[in-house]
Formats: sequence, C-alpha cells, structure tokens
Amino acid sequence: ADALKVGIAGLGTVGASLVKIIQTRANELAVTCGRAIEITAVTARDRNRDRGFDMSGMAWFETPEKLAAEADIDVFVELVGGATGAAADSVKIALERGLHVVTANKALLAASGVELATIAEEKGALLNFEAAVAGGIPVIKALRESLTGNTVSRVYGIMNGTCNYILTKMEKEGLSFAECLKEAQRLGYAEADPAFDIEGNDTAHKLSILTTLAFGTKIAADEIYLEGITNISIDDILAAADLGYRIKLLGVAQRTESGIEQRVHPTMVPHDSVIAQVDGVTNAVAIESDILGELLMVGPGAGGNATASAVLGDIADIAKSQPGAQRVPVLGTPALALAPYQKAR
Ligand code: NDP
Ligand code: HSE
Repeated sequence: ADALKVGIAGLGTVGASLVKIIQTRANELAVTCGRAIEITAVTARDRNRDRGFDMSGMAWFETPEKLAAEADIDVFVELVGGATGAAADSVKIALERGLHVVTANKALLAASGVELATIAEEKGALLNFEAAVAGGIPVIKALRESLTGNTVSRVYGIMNGTCNYILTKMEKEGLSFAECLKEAQRLGYAEADPAFDIEGNDTAHKLSILTTLAFGTKIAADEIYLEGITNISIDDILAAADLGYRIKLLGVAQRTESGIEQRVHPTMVPHDSVIAQVDGVTNAVAIESDILGELLMVGPGAGGNATASAVLGDIADIAKSQPGAQRVPVLGTPALALAPYQKAR
C-alpha cells in the first residue's frame, strides 16, 4: 500500500518526540500498520531551531493553516495547542479538506469538539484524540470502543500530570509549590500557560471530553464546578497525611437523579486506596459501568514520549483503516524470536 503521508503542526515537547519515534521505528511501523508512515510536511514558529531530528524530506510550511490547506498529506497532526488561533483554524481547514486529523489538544476539543466532529463526519474524515485525555492511557479507546453497550455511571480520576507531580513532590520532598511547578515545566509536563494546570482548567477540559463520551451529553467544560490546587500548602498535605489521607486533584463525572454532575477539585483520598498510590506525573482514570463493573487505568499522563505514544496510536489506526493496507494478523505481527523454552521446575 502507499505510504501514509503525515503533516505535523507543532514540533515542541510532543511534536518533536513524535517525529523522533516515527523516524527511529520506521521499519517496525511499516510492518505493524501494513504501510509506511512518512512525515512529509511540518511547521512550528521558529524554522531555525535545532529540534534534534533530521528535517530533510519534510516540506516546511510557514503556518499550521498553510500546511493544513496546501500540504500533500493524508493526515494532519495538530500539536500546537490552544483553543483558538492557529490550532483551531488549521484543524478546521484540514477537516474541511477531508483530511484525517489527530490532535492532543483538549482545550480545543472542550471548546469546539462537537463542531469539529460534525465537519469530520460530513467529510468522511477521522478525528482522533487519544492523547487529549490522560496522556498515554488509552481512555478514549476504552470509552469509544471497548465499553460499547455499557451504561456508564461514573468516570473519575487524576487527569493532570503536572498537578499530581506537584502534590507528590511537595509531600515526599518538602519542596515548595513554585519549585515543583518549575520542575514540571522543565520536564515538559505543563501547559504553555501553567495556570491551566494548577487552576484545574486542563482537568476540566479532559473531564468534559470524557463526560461526552461516557454519557452522550454535550461538551460543557464551563459548566464544571472548578477548584484547582493553588491554595494547597505543605501544611494541608501533612495534615491530611496525619489523618490517613492524601490530597489528589480529581475530576469526577457521575450520573445523579438531577442529571450528569461534573466537578474538579482537590480531594482527600484514603491512604490505602489505589488512587492515593498514584504518584508523580502518573494519571489514573476509573470508569464504572453496568456490564463490565469498575475499570481502573493507571499510566503516564504527560510528557513527550507518553503523549507521542498515544498520538502515534491514532495515526496507526488511520493507516490501518485505509483501503489497500495489509491486514494486520489477528494475533499480532511476529517480529521477535521466542526465548528458548525452559521447563518450569
Ligand atoms: P509545546 O509548547 O512544547 O509545543 C508547541 C509547538 O507549537 C512548538 O513547536 C511551537 O513552535 C508551535 N507553535 C505554537 N504556536 C504556534 C503558531 N502560532 N504557529 C506555528 N507553530 C506554533 O507544547 P506541547 O508539545 O507540550 O503540547 C502540544 C499540544 O499537546 C497541546 O495542545 C498540549 O495541550 C497537548 N498535550 C501536551 C502534553 C504534554 O505532556 N506536553 C500531554 C498531552 C497533551 P516553536 O517550537 O517554534 O516555539
Ligand atoms: N499539562 C498536561 C498535564 C499535559 O500536566 O497533564 C497532559 O495533558
């Protein structure tokens, strides 16, 4: 099958990780997806910055909008960020053109997800956004695919790596809020404007996306009760620990008699609960539903590789869905030799 041509807008923490992974694993990806994945077009603000990978063979576009409108691509990957401006305009242009779109941009989806999904449906394009919620954890796939037929009663969890990193570091290393935030920024976990993380908006954006998928309601991030972690002090954390609790920033959406309730706020969770043990940049999302019961997914919630892993999964899904792609063997693609069989004693 022909190579899948990918254009990437945004070459920062996530974009640069994605390019490096696709470049270094080109052969494995071609086998797994049944066709090569080629990055044919890119854009960012600064053309001259060394991003640690070879850009030859990739056309450079001056803006995301131009790339979306003019590049010879099958998939437009938006890793710029922001609910409006270049990210929003370019995604719309790409979908209007009938291109498949992959994005990690929860702020954009929380603001315009329904509008964008409607254009995608009209144009027969795919809009994939696994990385937009809980980084590398496949929670979108779980809700969109695996839990089909289930009636969900509650979705909740730790959905912001920066906040969980800050709360963990404050408790375990006694560092100040400001020091922990700075470190989270250095590690590439925080949003361009970290107020979105620490004031809870990023968790609200993610929760609003999960709510829509879980309960079929409209996306309503601005209707969520919202409280961030900016007022949490080391004294609060230590006082909670004395009582047998840890403080976690949770997003919760649940069915109630008066409708779907959505809230984001710091929560005291019992020390011996699984969610209390989730430390650092790790996220955890629990989904309670009638057929399956409780599903708890725990994994890396932010950072270049974790996020790029989910973006790549979305691109691979598109590659496999194209006519002409080789069928992926049901039991996977044999690539490794088995270790010699050793009889258990
Ligand atoms: P960065 O700030 O590291 O990267 C943003 C990239 O977009 C940069 O390459 C920047 O260019 C480029 N850019 C910004 N504005 C423009 C513009 N107007 N025109 C062209 N290019 C522009 O962000 P991240 O990689 O961290 O995040 C990208 C997206 O992924 C965001 O939506 C974020 O919310 C989301 N996300 C991030 C995660 C993370 O852990 N970092 C996790 C999950 C989702 P230049 O490099 O030249 O400045
Ligand atoms: N800033 C976000 C976080 C990135 O810390 O969770 C992942 O969505």
